[in-house]
Amino acid sequence: MTHLIAPSILGADFGNLQRQIEMLNNSAADWIHVDVMDGLFVPNISLGFPVIGAIKKHARKPLNLHLMIVDPDRYLQRFKAAGADHILVHYEACTHLHRTIHAIKELGCLAGVAINPHTPVALLADIIADVAIVLVMSVNPGFGGQQFIEQTYRKISELKSLSDKSNPGLLIEVDGGVSPQNAAKLIAAGANVLVAGSFVFAAEDQPAAIWSLKNI
Ligand code: DX5
Ligand code: ZN
Repeated sequence: MTHLIAPSILGADFGNLQRQIEMLNNSAADWIHVDVMDGLFVPNISLGFPVIGAIKKHARKPLNLHLMIVDPDRYLQRFKAAGADHILVHYEACTHLHRTIHAIKELGCLAGVAINPHTPVALLADIIADVAIVLVMSVNPGFGGQQFIEQTYRKISELKSLSDKSNPGLLIEVDGGVSPQNAAKLIAAGANVLVAGSFVFAAEDQPAAIWSLKNI
């Protein structure tokens, strides 16, 4: 399978959101990655339902919602109503992860789980068969523009082995500090979805930056 690109809207110019979404519509991007932060699970607050709805209004690509919030169960229905196509919750934020994943699937969304840099891949053994996506954080969540953590390559390889055994169709998404410097090595380790925020949106030519990640 060829890999997918999910530019992270957190890096976009929010004053020109419609223009930024249209740029993504006309680019090689496959998904639009949307980071939701609550100021509790992570030390930052990003965007909520009205902005997700505004993105959805213009987007012609699936919204890949990355929830960095505590107790996501309370809001799943509202994220779906706002326009989520995929909903990813953090392993560290869910006491009853199996229940949460199934609630996401019942809403008709692709369900995923995200893990922080300190969370071992092995902890996913009993949930991997139930999810469509695992997102491996390659920075500590909360902010764009951080430095890529090198142990991510090993975690991606471990996840690839686990998925070969238990869920061969799994989408392995990597998020944080992704650029052409590490993209080929991440894909070789088993990643098949690359999230990129600052690399894409800080570029002079944003569609070309997206293409440079796609064309690897
Ligand atoms: C960080 C977010 C990321 C972020 C990536 O908590 O989950 O999606 O936007 O941005 P870059 O690519 O700049 O690290
Ligand atoms: Zn993210």
